Amino acid sequence: MKIEEIKNTVKTQRISAHSHVKGLGLDEKGTAVKVCSGLVGQEDAREAAGIVVELIKAKKMAGRAILFAGPPGTGKTAIALAMSQELGSKVPFCPMVASEVYSAEVKKTEVLMENFRRAIGLRVKEVKEVYEGEVQEITPCETENPLGGYGKTISHVIIGLKTAKGTKQLKLDPSIYESLQRERVEVGDVIYVEANSGAVKRQGRSDAYATEYDLEAEEYVPLPKGDVHKRKEVVQDVTLHDLDVANALPQGGQDILSMMGQLLKPKKTEITDKLRKEINKVVNKYIDQGIAELVPGVLFIDEIHMLDIECFTYLHRALESQIAPIVIFATNRGRCVIRGTDDVVSPHGIPLDLLDRIMIIKTVPYVKEEITEILKIRSQVEGVALDEEALALLAEIGSNTTLRYAVQLLNPANQLAKVYKASVVDAKIVREISELFYDAKQSAKILAEKRDKFINQQ
Ligand SMILES: Nc1ncnc2c1ncn2[C@@H]1O[C@H](COP(=O)(O)OP(=O)(O)OP(=O)(O)O)[C@@H](O)[C@H]1O
Ligand SMILES: [Mg+2]
Repeated sequence: MKIEEIKNTVKTQRISAHSHVKGLGLDEKGTAVKVCSGLVGQEDAREAAGIVVELIKAKKMAGRAILFAGPPGTGKTAIALAMSQELGSKVPFCPMVASEVYSAEVKKTEVLMENFRRAIGLRVKEVKEVYEGEVQEITPCETENPLGGYGKTISHVIIGLKTAKGTKQLKLDPSIYESLQRERVEVGDVIYVEANSGAVKRQGRSDAYATEYDLEAEEYVPLPKGDVHKRKEVVQDVTLHDLDVANALPQGGQDILSMMGQLLKPKKTEITDKLRKEINKVVNKYIDQGIAELVPGVLFIDEIHMLDIECFTYLHRALESQIAPIVIFATNRGRCVIRGTDDVVSPHGIPLDLLDRIMIIKTVPYVKEEITEILKIRSQVEGVALDEEALALLAEIGSNTTLRYAVQLLNPANQLAKVYKASVVDAKIVREISELFYDAKQSAKILAEKRDKFINQQ
């Protein structure tokens, strides 16, 4: 199995509506601070989430499921993301929305399986033969293109590496030059190159280059001790999905076809059940040998009521399996029909037998003061200047409609202020903008009143 040179395939966060959320905002005792880390109120849910985070860190949660249930806009998604921040980057956190399973190309259960495996981490410790040091020079050496034609190609690259003990010059393959560029390695960085695979890892900037004035968030590392060429314990954090992808990609030389293969997105269908089984087998072996350690992460499925009965059955079974992550669901539904059934009504649209094993955390609607605080935070993040009156009016609107509607008015209001050449958003602008954009309730009312003006389904 291939575990060298694996790139993390972390899903990018799709939600910028929560960019102000930096954590759960709990004190050392685990009590929620009213306004902290970007979160406001919702103390019970935050404290419960804090306990779950502690359990996950202590590895006592694998195979369990949590459900955030509450009305729309009460911070379910926000708190789940805060949990991911508290967990840190070493614990995998895979967010998805339930409707992602409905893809025309991939089976529903396949999507679920892939995300399950994104949420299971593996920490691999290996002793590897490496060349390590502070980069002294990077000199690509060119030759005439052997295939004829114009231009030159790089035949090899010379890098100089320095440690406390000495300096060494290495002549390396052109492919390593590409890796160096990919990792943005510059003179003065501390790196290591794996002797077998040629994988390059940038560890940080040598602290000889640290200056007092440097404001950059650069990580400085000391000059490595010992020889340049040595054996070193390398720790890699990957997910099972990373392993699936790395081992399913077509392998090959540097020909055009394989280059095309790299340009095309890896096809999901290439990861077969058989491959996964094989990987599990190797992983289990590594765990038994103490080379690898399992790090159960979190799979977060938002809007869980969108899953159908088939997916629920699959989930239930997957949770029971030996290697399972922690699964966190969120929904704003009350009792509703389970998708994929004709008339089975169940709380939150989740089958009772699955619901039975889930711990539920509820979120409650916000009071006006809390909405005011959240609006204050959001207006700062979005760079919208509001006066007192405008803030009060927006909070009023928020408590009559939804928090999300009020938050969404911020940017349009700002735009209108710009049109009026006003330096701050005032109450008049807020009123005007709230009349231009409807919230869901208003819109439904209008639809009901002017029913005959629209085309309606019979
Ligand atoms: N307690 C809070 N503190 C700060 N911001 C919050 C809080 N709760 C919600 N928000 C913000 O309000 C907006 C709506 O919240 P969120 O999307 O988390 O609601 P939700 O419960 O997931 O709603 P839905 O059921 O519709 O998915 C987001 O921008 C979120 O970041
Ligand atoms: Mg949500």
